[in-house]
Amino acid sequence: MPAAPEGGATPWSGRFERTPERFQQRFGASLPVDRRLYAEDIAGSIAHARMLGTQGVLSHEDVEAIVRGLIGIREDIEAGRLEFDVASEDIHMAIEQELTRRIGEAGKRLHTARSRNDQVATDVRLFVKRRAHELVALANRLRSTIVDLAEAHLGAVMPGYTHLQKAQPVLFSHHLLAYFWMLSRDVRRLKAAYDAADALPLGSAALAGTTFPIDRGAVAAELGVSAVVPNSMDAVSDRDFAADAIYACALGMVHLSRLCEELVLWSTEEFGFIVLDDAWSTGSSIMPQKKNPDFAELVRGKTGRAIGDLVALLVTLKGLPLAYNKDMQEDKEPLFDALDTYADALVAVEGMLATMRVDTERMAAAALGGYMAATDLADLLASKGVPFREAHEIVGRLVLECERSGRRLQDLSATELAAASPHLGEDAVAALDIAEVVARRTSEGGTAPERVREQLADASAVLAADERWLAEHPPA
Ligand code: ARG
Repeated sequence: MPAAPEGGATPWSGRFERTPERFQQRFGASLPVDRRLYAEDIAGSIAHARMLGTQGVLSHEDVEAIVRGLIGIREDIEAGRLEFDVASEDIHMAIEQELTRRIGEAGKRLHTARSRNDQVATDVRLFVKRRAHELVALANRLRSTIVDLAEAHLGAVMPGYTHLQKAQPVLFSHHLLAYFWMLSRDVRRLKAAYDAADALPLGSAALAGTTFPIDRGAVAAELGVSAVVPNSMDAVSDRDFAADAIYACALGMVHLSRLCEELVLWSTEEFGFIVLDDAWSTGSSIMPQKKNPDFAELVRGKTGRAIGDLVALLVTLKGLPLAYNKDMQEDKEPLFDALDTYADALVAVEGMLATMRVDTERMAAAALGGYMAATDLADLLASKGVPFREAHEIVGRLVLECERSGRRLQDLSATELAAASPHLGEDAVAALDIAEVVARRTSEGGTAPERVREQLADASAVLAADERWLAEHPPA
């Protein structure tokens, strides 16, 4: 290793007799990943510097130079004019070094009463708040599209499945709204991650606090953060909010993967319930006839990444002693990946749903098969005093008979029905009407049109409340 040059290449060069070599530099660096935190890092530094000025720790001239310098750096990064030196280990040092290069002495004073440990924890929290806010907005958009689709197709009947076998007919809108509620729970988790991130570690310094007369509340207020983390050691080592955010993304992806699996199935020739728009499909390089649901498959596939991201962070944190450990530098890749993956997936699913063609006739035709009125026939018998188990037997035999003769339950005549049970007459023929089968399910949360209409109203109210949440909560 070469001897340390005068002035040193690292902020700790005073203590070291050598400068780091290339491999160690690259292995230890997080700059390629954490450069995305530049806006949060600069916002935190500006708030910190201003507070130090107010507290009399820094002169007002220094604060002014620092703030102006940092704003200039932000502008240059955003205009693509600033390339960081790869030797800067992370975004915090890269910005500080650039600041000092630009404004001299004052830049070297910025790190007073601060450590990269409370700095990075602050940056990541601000980042999570911003991205959680953005994800809620994207999830709202998707939920709004789901509500629109459900409204537009109210009345369309499709088969409902259990075990992927036809079970009972449902409204297509009812099926769609099931995803609305899943997404609403995902939004709740995103908001919880936002809240978890909404506390300020800055002012905890390396781990124990600082000897300077700082004002953490003022920094929190300037950054739009609701509270100050009460324990300096917890402040620098807590990444729960990141785990919360990844979990919200991972479970959100699991939900989207289920919807996408249905889009894949529904767009097969066998189902034919939907036709995906060309813009959201791809062709085959060899089979000229193909139109593949690649984007739905990719959302399904990328779910594995988000789940992996959650496991990666939890395993990284497991067993770490207090307070900061360099392991924690590994928090960012899984966090960023999960947030990016989920954001893209929300956009893709919204795009597919908003543009697909729904073939309600194919759905209705499919709903006639599968003996899906069987339960209603049994219910009819039970309502006439036949014990349900017996009713089940009687209808089961009718289904078997239909299967043998290649008919549907609706094809049975009143005489045939009466032969199966004296309780089955003309009313049994009516009971088998598929639209009626749907309309009869008026229990709370059921698929009857009037219930689904209520559900739509509830869904719109929930959506409006989450739109208000967006307006009432600053993005960062
Ligand atoms: N790049 C570091 C990280 O992401 C910043 C904190 C470094 N702190 C330290 N004491 N080495 O965690």
